[in-house]
Amino acid sequence: MKRFIDPNELARDSRFVRQDNAQSTVLAAMPDDVDVIVNAFEQFSPMIEESVRGTAAQSLFDAYGPAFALTVINEPIDPDAPEGLTRLLLRMHGIFVGEMQALEGAARSLWDFPDTPWEFKMNMARQCWDEARHIQIFEKLLVHLGGYVGMFPESTFLFEAACSDDPAMRVAGVNRGLEGLACDVFRDMIRYAEKTGDEKMRQAVDYVLADELTHVRFGSEWVREFTKDDPEYLKRTQDYRRAVDKQFSFGGARSDREDAAIPIAWEDRLEAGFTEEELTELANLSGDGPSKKTLTAAAKILRERHFEKRTANAETGAQS
Ligand SMILES: [Fe+2]
Ligand SMILES: [Fe+2]
Repeated sequence: MKRFIDPNELARDSRFVRQDNAQSTVLAAMPDDVDVIVNAFEQFSPMIEESVRGTAAQSLFDAYGPAFALTVINEPIDPDAPEGLTRLLLRMHGIFVGEMQALEGAARSLWDFPDTPWEFKMNMARQCWDEARHIQIFEKLLVHLGGYVGMFPESTFLFEAACSDDPAMRVAGVNRGLEGLACDVFRDMIRYAEKTGDEKMRQAVDYVLADELTHVRFGSEWVREFTKDDPEYLKRTQDYRRAVDKQFSFGGARSDREDAAIPIAWEDRLEAGFTEEELTELANLSGDGPSKKTLTAAAKILRERHFEKRTANAETGAQS
């Protein structure tokens, strides 16, 4: 069996649609300027509309306009927001595919590094077992909420964090970066379920979160073990995790601010072996590209223009 596979080689059945990461890459390269972002989205609006037509995301385009992805990423999920359920399903589906990629990442860590200690391999095997269970749990939760597998396209940016060919960096990226993000998102989902009184979802996500803490702990412990007696190696590994975390901060959408779309699960992360210093640094990380404020302002303008255009089109249609 091949070692170190490319994200494009991940096996999926015909229900799954693969999405390229072009939009997020383009966005990270844009200046922190509302007008530039508005113009770019207006220009690509027909293409974005075409890409969501017939998919579950079409209703998000209708409700928020071409920049629906910016709103979805930057605002906390809210059952009362327009298309609140679709937004919840989008997140749930993202978590479901994220769990699949976490299983693939852990299994790859076991296979890609044959010279690592037996205990490391056992930890990775244990993680695979957990992730397989998580996939089933989130598939059931997706159906519980009225969704289905394959309703949204899958982005493989999480698995890409699992592509380092160095074992310390691999566990730093997957177990501390990706699994740490899972802690933040799951804590947020528990809060959401408490708010909506969905006891099934609250309890299921709580069970999963307990496992994720263990996975982060595997990362904290193995980074320490792999880099012991080599401070320079430890530094390179920490820098790598920082780069992964920056990618996972979605331009600052995840932060310790009250209104963050994804607040940092501070207590959970401390329990999993992150230090206060690392968490403070994480809270101050924001990705490359435009700030959250700029993106929110651009999304608002684009949404207003989208509705103006719809009204104008409806009026022209009525006259003819
Ligand atoms: Fe998981
Ligand atoms: Fe995990």
